[in-house]
Amino acid sequence: MTVEAVLEAVPLPVLILNSDHRITLANSASTDLFGRNVTGENGVGVLRQAAALDAVERCLTEGQQSSARFVLSGQSGAHIFTLRAHPLPDHRALLSFEDRSQHEDSEAMRRDFVANISHELRTPLTSLMGFIETLRGPARDDPDAQERFLEIMEHEAQRMSRMVTDLLSLSRVEVDERIRPRDQVDLSSVLRSVIATLEGKLSDAGVTVSAPDLDARALIRGDRDQLIQLFLNLLENAIKYGGAGKVIHIAIRRLERDPTLRQAAIQVDIRDEGEGIDPLHIPRLTERFYRVDDHRSRDMGGTGLGLAIVKHIVNRHRGRLKIASEQGVGSCFSIIFPDEV
Ligand SMILES: Nc1ncnc2c1ncn2[C@@H]1O[C@H](COP(=O)(O)OP(=O)(O)OP(=O)(O)O)[C@@H](O)[C@H]1O
Ligand SMILES: [Mg+2]
Repeated sequence: MTVEAVLEAVPLPVLILNSDHRITLANSASTDLFGRNVTGENGVGVLRQAAALDAVERCLTEGQQSSARFVLSGQSGAHIFTLRAHPLPDHRALLSFEDRSQHEDSEAMRRDFVANISHELRTPLTSLMGFIETLRGPARDDPDAQERFLEIMEHEAQRMSRMVTDLLSLSRVEVDERIRPRDQVDLSSVLRSVIATLEGKLSDAGVTVSAPDLDARALIRGDRDQLIQLFLNLLENAIKYGGAGKVIHIAIRRLERDPTLRQAAIQVDIRDEGEGIDPLHIPRLTERFYRVDDHRSRDMGGTGLGLAIVKHIVNRHRGRLKIASEQGVGSCFSIIFPDEV
């Protein structure tokens, strides 16, 4: 059995260099990596990155195992590798390249996410701490001020609690996104119960709902609790951003064929008569914590997680979300589900 045959069986890109940096062996995974077979070339010319060359040099001259970060930019962006140089007899070295890109991407996402959460929680916490100080000090003997501050404090605490609830439900939805729902669910009945739940909010905002299609059954394969959560989020948004005294239009219809799902589908439209959304923002609305108008949404108790939850629930149901909006006229959030049970 030759060394070549063994290295061919290794899925990682592997090179063997002799003492003057000449590459004496390159497996086919390394051919994929460098875009050519680099056998016979000089390692310095192939690697061309100071950190990588240092690691190789240390390995060749001192017989030490060493590693370095190695970056290759290709068509699909930069790929980050851990280059390991392992000493072999006769002052030679075996180099292997482990792809770290995915790992680093998810690390970066996790860092962003934690930073976002910390930032979002810090704002209400700072304000709570400020009010506690005021209640102990300047407002000590002022019952009116105390009453006012306590109300704001309650509001902030509720905001934090809502955010924690939303984060938990987001992670739950993410966890079972891969598991297809099994139950038969009637979308009309889901929407009727969502509207009933929101009766208080609707009448407080002076908003009415027009939903002429809810008498007919519209069956899909789904998870009833999640579908309720989905439409609660969309309707709450339509109430919040649709404007007081306006109408929310809900429509359900069958599509013979949805071009994206490539099959028959059931579409639910939630249309409001609000200010609408600048097209610039539309592609980003389903990102966690994304709000068009930070201050306004925050004042209304929004954390920017609602549509992220919606997106995951839609994905789990193998459906799609379509957002159309015209400024000054209103927005329409459409959910398109595969028509099957
Ligand atoms: N019907 C709508 N009309 C106008 N803008 C909307 C509408 N729905 C959502 N948006 C915009 O999209 C943003 C994100 O919505 P999302 O539901 O994710 O967060 P939120 O409502 O701010 O907070 P949360 O839902 O977590 O309480 C909102 O802040 C708002 O700017
Ligand atoms: Mg919302």
